[in-house]
Amino acid sequence: MTADHTRAPVLEALDEYRRKGHLSFTPPGHKQARGADPAVREILGDAVFHGDVLASGGLDDRLTRGRVLQRAQELMADAVHAEHTFFSTCGSSLSVKAAMLSVAGPHEKLLLGRDAHKSVVAGLIISGIEPVWVEPRWDAERNLAHPPSAEEFDRAFDAHPDARGALVTSPTPYGGCADLRAIADVCHRRSRPLIVDEAWGAHLPFHPDLPSWAMDAGADICVTSIHKMGSGLEQGSVFHLQGDLVPPELLGMRADLLGTTSPSVLIFAGLDGWRRQMALRGGN
Ligand SMILES: Cc1ncc(COP(=O)(O)O)c(C=O)c1O
Repeated sequence: MTADHTRAPVLEALDEYRRKGHLSFTPPGHKQARGADPAVREILGDAVFHGDVLASGGLDDRLTRGRVLQRAQELMADAVHAEHTFFSTCGSSLSVKAAMLSVAGPHEKLLLGRDAHKSVVAGLIISGIEPVWVEPRWDAERNLAHPPSAEEFDRAFDAHPDARGALVTSPTPYGGCADLRAIADVCHRRSRPLIVDEAWGAHLPFHPDLPSWAMDAGADICVTSIHKMGSGLEQGSVFHLQGDLVPPELLGMRADLLGTTSPSVLIFAGLDGWRRQMALRGGN
């Protein structure tokens, strides 16, 4: 069945909640803005409170029979050529850690580009994964660093054949991109997964003139912030999975381990609306 990108399941469910005049006995305590301080309502606007409902028992029923989030995630996966997509309301900081924990465990090695974000370092601390740092390439002419090359990852795997996989940041905060296809090949020759921290690359899948993005380049897991290069709300992040080196259930469980039990539906709505915007008009 072809995906219908004119739909936005989260936004549609919020609209229905509003039109039916639902009011829940559950959190959030502001009760569709009624209980919020008028001075706060004045500045934030009531739309913020109207969109702030429970994910199950608000946006969807308590048994999530409407599959609202699942349908939104499936549409996102289709839009960016992934097999599985997971939404995060805790930023790419959570997505990066979930990805790392699904590939390696305590005292196991992971190859990491040394220009990694602090969430990668936090992931090491909470997981006990042993880092094998792979150095970025310093560009003396431009005074900036490029991501490590595929050859450098290859050498690191040769020196540490027990490494469980690799993680590379691309684009870098400088804007340079890694040769993801070549790095993915290096990993897959050893049946190891490649994680791409593509926090700064949300726009990449939507225009042919942009560098190839992680899923198209054969990466296994890819993490993207939608609030950086996309129009999502702060903390909106998605992570994607393809191939059979990391089971989707495992990745979902690792994210569940780290995530909040009260995800912000506003952030989900931002992710859902951005996907529709990009799927319909992103190539323009
Ligand atoms: C490369 C990289 N990865 C991950 C993150 C974490 O993203 P978030 O702020 O969405 O948690 C950032 C944030 O700046 C980043 O630059």
